[in-house]
Amino acid sequence: MKGVVFILVEEFVTDQFGAEAWDGLLEAAGLDGVWTTLGTYPDEHLAMLVNAAAERFELPPEQVQRLVGQGTFSGLAAQHPELLEDHTSSRTVLLDLNGIIHPEVMKLYPGAEVPWFDVTEQADGLLHLHYRSRRALGPLAEGLIVGAGAYFGESIELLSVVDTGEECQMVIRIEQSTGAKG
Ligand code: HEM
Repeated sequence: MKGVVFILVEEFVTDQFGAEAWDGLLEAAGLDGVWTTLGTYPDEHLAMLVNAAAERFELPPEQVQRLVGQGTFSGLAAQHPELLEDHTSSRTVLLDLNGIIHPEVMKLYPGAEVPWFDVTEQADGLLHLHYRSRRALGPLAEGLIVGAGAYFGESIELLSVVDTGEECQMVIRIEQSTGAKG
């Protein structure tokens, strides 16, 4: 997993819960917390942080993943405004994720391993999303989707989520709410 992910998680936890909480998580996870954006670190380190947070906040690890995804989308967007400048809705971000956005990410972060993410728009406007990755981070994807909605001032309703680990299928409805950015 690229260092940028860890750095965004650190930013999110520090902003929300303070530097001491972050240090506590690092200690509990047994990590030194030194990352560079382009460096590659073991996926297990993310799992160790998620598990430490799950214990500390008494939440299921999947819920921690969701919160992390939700809390880091805006940081990801701020890091790469050029990748989102043509977008005014999470709908087109999701539709372009597999074909444009993540392939661009792989150019920016050599050695990055992005998930496969097939998105189709149904006749009724609902989006059907099919995530696949050996990292099995479906709940993180869920959180990023909700975070993307919030970023564009939309609210995302998850109508169904079927998560079998390395694959996760979701059906979502995107609704306009207030405070749109795009
Ligand atoms: C709603 C939109 C997005 C979703 C649902 C999403 C989903 C994910 C997920 C779940 C991962 C974890 C890796 C895995 O599961 O195998 C990931 C990795 C990543 N994504 Fe996205 N992503 C989104 C948008 C973006 C955007 C806008 C950027 C950049 C501006 C981005 C950059 C990255 C990077 C850098 C990684 C790490 C790859 C690695 O460490 O090897 N993603 N994405």
